[in-house]
Amino acid sequence: MEIGNKWSYIREVVERGQRSTVYCSIASINSDGMPNITPIGTVFLRDDNTGYFFDHYTSTLAENLDRDPRLCLSAVDAGKFFWFRSFLKGRFVSPPGVRLYGEAGPLREASPAEIALIEDRVRPTRWLKGSRLLWTNFTHVRDLTFTEYRPVTYPVMMDGLW
Ligand SMILES: Cc1cc2nc3c(=O)[nH]c(=O)nc-3n(C[C@H](O)[C@H](O)[C@H](O)COP(=O)(O)O)c2cc1C
Repeated sequence: MEIGNKWSYIREVVERGQRSTVYCSIASINSDGMPNITPIGTVFLRDDNTGYFFDHYTSTLAENLDRDPRLCLSAVDAGKFFWFRSFLKGRFVSPPGVRLYGEAGPLREASPAEIALIEDRVRPTRWLKGSRLLWTNFTHVRDLTFTEYRPVTYPVMMDGLW
């Protein structure tokens, strides 16, 4: 489906999903046509159907996107409180997830503003050893441009959404 005027709604679903699970799943296409899914926790969306992610550790994803930039990004809210409230009401209180379809750009240097945003995101965990080990040296990103979306649907509980 075309994104049209739904972008801010979709963006909210992606951001909530990424917060709840700490990642989005990005599907890309291997050279033999086999799908490959990579968890990515550093997706940032802008307000114009685009975004970017910090590409630091990926291998197959990077290879695939350099050869064929098409991707599908999926985010699902796995938060216990979200599911509890939804089950209590018998209706999802907001969309449980969404798929976005589009393309990724080549690896490029992150701007100071982009680095500041990721540093803000990880700052609360900076006192932890793992955070210092994994979440440092954010230097490169890939831009994302989305054209289509598909809601994640679950029968019966979806009234009034989308
Ligand atoms: C929750 C989670 C979030 C991750 N986020 C990122 C990320 O934002 N950027 C990155 O380069 N690697 C990230 N990684 C690491 C890659 O997902 C990992 O290296 C993966 O094996 C690469 O797969 P690929 O071979 O399909 O590229 C993350 C891993 C996990 C478990």
